[in-house]
Amino acid sequence: MTVRHGANRTSRISGFHLKSPHARLNQVASFAELDPATVAHLANTGNLSPELADRMIENVIATMNVPIGIATNMKIDGEDVLVPMATEESSVVAAVCNAGRQTYESGFTTSVSGTLMIAQVQAVDVPDPHAARLRLLEKRDEIKAICDSCDPLLVKLGGGCRDVEIRVLDTLGGTMVITHLIVDTRDAMGANAVNTMAEKIAPQIAAWSGGRVFLRILSNLADRRLARAHAVWKLEQIGGASVRDGMLSAYHFAEADPYRAATHNKGIMNGISAVVLATGNDTRAVEAGAHAFAARSGRYTSLTRYEINKDGDLSGSIELPLAVGLIGGATKIHPTAQACLKILGVTTAERLARIIAAVGLAQNFSALKALATVGVQSGHMALHAQNVAIMAGAIGNEIDMVARALVESGTVRIDVAQAELAKIRT
Ligand code: MEV
Repeated sequence: MTVRHGANRTSRISGFHLKSPHARLNQVASFAELDPATVAHLANTGNLSPELADRMIENVIATMNVPIGIATNMKIDGEDVLVPMATEESSVVAAVCNAGRQTYESGFTTSVSGTLMIAQVQAVDVPDPHAARLRLLEKRDEIKAICDSCDPLLVKLGGGCRDVEIRVLDTLGGTMVITHLIVDTRDAMGANAVNTMAEKIAPQIAAWSGGRVFLRILSNLADRRLARAHAVWKLEQIGGASVRDGMLSAYHFAEADPYRAATHNKGIMNGISAVVLATGNDTRAVEAGAHAFAARSGRYTSLTRYEINKDGDLSGSIELPLAVGLIGGATKIHPTAQACLKILGVTTAERLARIIAAVGLAQNFSALKALATVGVQSGHMALHAQNVAIMAGAIGNEIDMVARALVESGTVRIDVAQAELAKIRT
């Protein structure tokens, strides 16, 4: 570990949050001994103004640009869609394009279970938890009315508190009474709406249950907000029975084994998180929901399923919670997110969730196909070789030349790239 010393090296910076992004950057530059070129690089916030970035999170000094690629060939519920995907990982966009092309004729069909979110209110030290459960259920209409009074606009838009469920939960700390507020948040992801309701109803829950209330927060296991997508890949499109059977076997592996399922689902989330990020939605909320849903049986398993249909073709499907919105948070204020929603042509959160589910399935199809045949490295290495060429200092045409040489040599390494670059330059 290298420890640097300098007069300004303290992380106790009072009033840091009150400074401008520019002033903060200068202070960080002095702390970290950044050179002027690095400071100038960070000061360029691209198409997100420092003023807006400064309103989005705390202590802003810069922005992090991630490429947005467009997935082509996607037909979803009969409609052609161009899908913006924000990701730093090569091959992710290409994977969706390829899967979409191979099922373009029939495309993806999708559905959603609704736009219901769950907020949890935790009551502890309840003397009679089972009786408290019934007392709270008797107050269902009153609870709904109090929740709805928090958000008249949501109610006007057709949303609001739909139901109340009470669970008696045995925990390490004793029995708890957990209230679930089931709220239709329509086109909002809904975290703010349901958290406000949970906080508002908490004193009543404490009074009616006879206990003490601690947590009042949404659940990211949004299993009342499921999105589903289905597609059929014809045998001749995927390259015959042996490819199909290899893919099926890959699915069976993921279904049976959490070690494989984690990687299988990570690939799915490559696609899903990229669209969630491009649209300014909360990637972590969606990821937490997806993985919790994958473990809902008590055993972590695949988010997708594959079967052979009556024609011998490969039938794939996906179902997962997708809490995404079009209003609120970064989605509404980030100009790039707004532009991506425009490209997608979505006007409801439900449609966005359907598209994202289809992208997740497409991503998984391509990963399984590559894994069951040539492996992922040959496709991945072509783009990775370009990154390595850039790391080695290649510019302009040199990047392609060095990358090609790396792929041809079968050794995508920085030292090989440097040697290749030196050869080209002489
Ligand atoms: C890499 O980011 C994703 C894959 O590992 C997914 C998979 O193994 O299914 C290729």
